[in-house]
Amino acid sequence: MFPKISLITFSLVAVALGQQIGTNQAETHPKLTWQTCTGTGSCQANSNGAVVLDANWRWTHNVGGFTNCYTGNTWDNTLCPDGETCATNCAVDGADYAGTYGITTSGNALTLKFVTFAQQKNIGSRVYLMADDTHYESFQLLNKEFTFDVDLSQLPCGINGALYFSEMDADGGVSRFPANKAGAKYGTGYCDSQCPRDIKFINGVANSEGWVPSPSDPNAGTGNTGSCCNEMDVWEANSVSAAFTPHPCSVDGQTSCTGEDCAIQSRFDGLCDPDGCDFNSFRMGVQDFYGKGMTVDTSSKFTVVTQFVTNNNSTSGTLSEIRRIYVQNGRVIQNSKVNIPGMQPFDSVTTDFCTSQKTTFGDTNSFQQHGGLANMSKAMAKGMVLVMSIWDDHAAQMLWLDSDYPIGADATKPGVARGTCAQSSGDPVTVEGQTPNAQVVFSNIRFGSIGSTFTA
Ligand SMILES: *[C@@H]1O[C@H](CO)[C@@H](O)[C@H](O)[C@H]1NC(C)=O
Ligand SMILES: *[C@@H]1O[C@H](CO)[C@@H](O)[C@H](O)[C@H]1NC(C)=O
Ligand SMILES: *[C@@H]1O[C@H](CO)[C@@H](O)[C@H](O)[C@H]1NC(C)=O
Repeated sequence: MFPKISLITFSLVAVALGQQIGTNQAETHPKLTWQTCTGTGSCQANSNGAVVLDANWRWTHNVGGFTNCYTGNTWDNTLCPDGETCATNCAVDGADYAGTYGITTSGNALTLKFVTFAQQKNIGSRVYLMADDTHYESFQLLNKEFTFDVDLSQLPCGINGALYFSEMDADGGVSRFPANKAGAKYGTGYCDSQCPRDIKFINGVANSEGWVPSPSDPNAGTGNTGSCCNEMDVWEANSVSAAFTPHPCSVDGQTSCTGEDCAIQSRFDGLCDPDGCDFNSFRMGVQDFYGKGMTVDTSSKFTVVTQFVTNNNSTSGTLSEIRRIYVQNGRVIQNSKVNIPGMQPFDSVTTDFCTSQKTTFGDTNSFQQHGGLANMSKAMAKGMVLVMSIWDDHAAQMLWLDSDYPIGADATKPGVARGTCAQSSGDPVTVEGQTPNAQVVFSNIRFGSIGSTFTA
């Protein structure tokens, strides 16, 4: 993720959320099969896989009733005079995945639709892979390979179909924060490296205190508290640009923040690294590698392989390199090599790549300041939750992924150009109005030892 302060762009007029459990709609997690692999050609299906919708998108209402706790982008002052009372008064309900949120699964494929019109209009979604009905699957990525197929042919400029790992509690936080009755079954406990403050309940308490409605998003706002944790962005992409990006933190596990720990005044003062160390082929100087009709042709489905290499080729080692391989139409495509004057032809994320990139582009090395690959490694050893989402960007129009960014910078300066989207693209109002039917399909998830999850 990059500047996704207002990532939560759902748009349910009658929606809110809570920490108790509502019973107006049964919660049934859509099944999603995936595979664990131990050697080439030897993969086993995990047939109890399923996905759960994040709590922030859900209807929250008074316990036992139908009165909204949160409507549009404001809290009900009567039900929510303070965060703790609010969490006691408010229940988060089950979800109609397909009807309300445009989330469907079929076998090993998950489709996330961008805009869904039901009684209300929903924008985007975020789901987690489950191990059982009340726990997220926890992935220990060191010395392992994670692979999936993606079809983002219908994902234009300004929209991000993301697949990534966050260091969330596997139970959604219920054991550490008993005020949270909903837990992973209802998608609680989200955190990431932006320390998002648009999360409505954090650590079993409503984030209603200090809540400021977003000036641009009629359905989101920010409270006094943020939710930080290590984040490994395996895939942030649309049909124009793609990036993979580790974002370490100086804290271990999901951690709430207030004040400058959430990097409110200064971007780099928070508990986590907001920029990360990104590998985007276009930004790294190869402009004909990824896109429609290019080497990795985004007009049809392809396979994305990511390898988490350690210093001693053991799961007990420390993360030393993140490698990327693509497979399309039976052809293995090695990642593009950096083509930037002054940089070596790196084709993976290593400490040397990150340092060289930050220096060459003149970017703050907040990656290393927050512990770099070593701290990312600790999170991977502990276990991370798989997140899949589709979102648009009220903070920066996704220009950091697919256009020239920051606005006003010289686009011929190395590091500024990230994709061919216009700087005028990515405005949420325009994107939601013009391409409501955008979608991403993630399928055929495989996880196992390095080299085990794909063949040519
Ligand atoms: C790890 O494996 C790679 C590829 O098989 C090999 O090139 C490298 O030397 C190994 N490193 C160590 C420390 O054993
Ligand atoms: C790998 O390296 C780590 C330290 O980085 C060490 O603790 C571990 O024992 C090593 N594992 C093997 C199998 O050599
Ligand atoms: C790395 O994370 C640990 C907590 O696991 C923290 O104590 C340390 O300060 C972090 N390193 C940096 C450079 O932030």
